[in-house]
Amino acid sequence: MTFSAPVSPLLDCNTLSTVADSGDIVSFVSLMESMGASPEDQTEVVASFLSDTDAKVFVAGHRGLVGSAIHRKLVALGFTKLLLRTHAEVDLTRQADVEAFFAAERPRYVIVAAAKVGGIHANSTYPADFIAVNLQIQTNIIDASLRCTGGAVSKLFFLGSSCIYPKHAPQPIPESALLSGPLEPTNEWYAVAKIAGIKMCQAYRIQHGLDAISAMPTNLYGPQDNFHPENSHVLPALIRRFHNAKISGANEVVVWGTGSPLREFLHVDDLADAVVFLMDRYSGLEHVNVGSGKEVTIKELAELVKEVVGFQGDLVWDKTKPDGTPRKLMDSSMLAGMGWEAKIPLREGLADTYKWYVDNVVDN
Ligand SMILES: NC(=O)c1ccc[n+]([C@@H]2O[C@H](COP(=O)([O-])OP(=O)(O)OC[C@H]3O[C@@H](n4cnc5c(N)ncnc54)[C@H](OP(=O)(O)O)[C@@H]3O)[C@@H](O)[C@H]2O)c1
Repeated sequence: MTFSAPVSPLLDCNTLSTVADSGDIVSFVSLMESMGASPEDQTEVVASFLSDTDAKVFVAGHRGLVGSAIHRKLVALGFTKLLLRTHAEVDLTRQADVEAFFAAERPRYVIVAAAKVGGIHANSTYPADFIAVNLQIQTNIIDASLRCTGGAVSKLFFLGSSCIYPKHAPQPIPESALLSGPLEPTNEWYAVAKIAGIKMCQAYRIQHGLDAISAMPTNLYGPQDNFHPENSHVLPALIRRFHNAKISGANEVVVWGTGSPLREFLHVDDLADAVVFLMDRYSGLEHVNVGSGKEVTIKELAELVKEVVGFQGDLVWDKTKPDGTPRKLMDSSMLAGMGWEAKIPLREGLADTYKWYVDNVVDN
């Protein structure tokens, strides 16, 4: 059930929660009507997302890799009322702050791209942060979308990641692999929080009718990626290392392993395109995989990065070092069946990312 008429924010968040928690739907409807909202208003808010460019859209985490791409995409599509808050402005782990923000702004659309994200090292060093911060951010946002907006939120989009799937999931990994086996232990704290986010979207849809959907992207790359020497993913790490080798005039770059593992990469602008596609067209319980469907070996990737960066020395494989999982590919046939496909070829995406790195990270 969706309501769209204005209501008093404080009355809304405090009183509505009590009535909603009681499960008394008759009282809930009557309370909403007394506040000036009406179920009939729903017709106003179910307009197609893409044509609803005057609606308020909250992009949580708009300065991150994913959030900034979604922000760029929405600006390009003509959305005029984007709600953007930095971490310092609204700390999404703080329930009272999130509730006050939602009650005051009452967005019509909510996209959850804020999260505590990191590699294996960060996950194993700060497991408590990874589980607690992610649970807090997503719980606060999803719950406030329901309880603190007087029904203004007509759609919520939650972003997870491919690490939600079991370590030994079938390849390519279908959506149905969720909770079918043990997780990869190195990032299970993060994965458990993300799985809880999917389940929370499903539970709020079932119990409260909140149109909350979730998507699980494959490995992403692009502008705003993390190029940190210890904390970055393989693709930005390769860009940084080849660039540094080029600048210092080194003869070779040594990369761990044999280069044989297969990986899938998606440019973050393609992900942003998929997000708006799903916001516009999808409403369902099932989470949706978002991948490019194209696999490359780490060797092919490293050679491509070397070429794009313009490093003239040798690429050397240290085969005494471990390779990692042999293959990791998402099965994105559900999304493909809806008519979406990735458009940015890896070489083009790498060139774009390298340019961003040189313009924004190098010498900073
Ligand atoms: N990167 C990938 O390859 C990848 C792949 C699949 C899925 N995803 C998913 O995409 C989502 C976003 O990832 P990302 O790579 O874009 O991460 P990111 O670049 O680290 O961005 C995360 C954003 O969240 C904000 N944030 C974190 N804690 C916050 C808090 N307490 N209050 C307010 N804002 C907070 C950060 O702001 P500050 O920096 O100011 O803290 C940052 O803007 C995650 O759910 C992740 O699982 C990412």
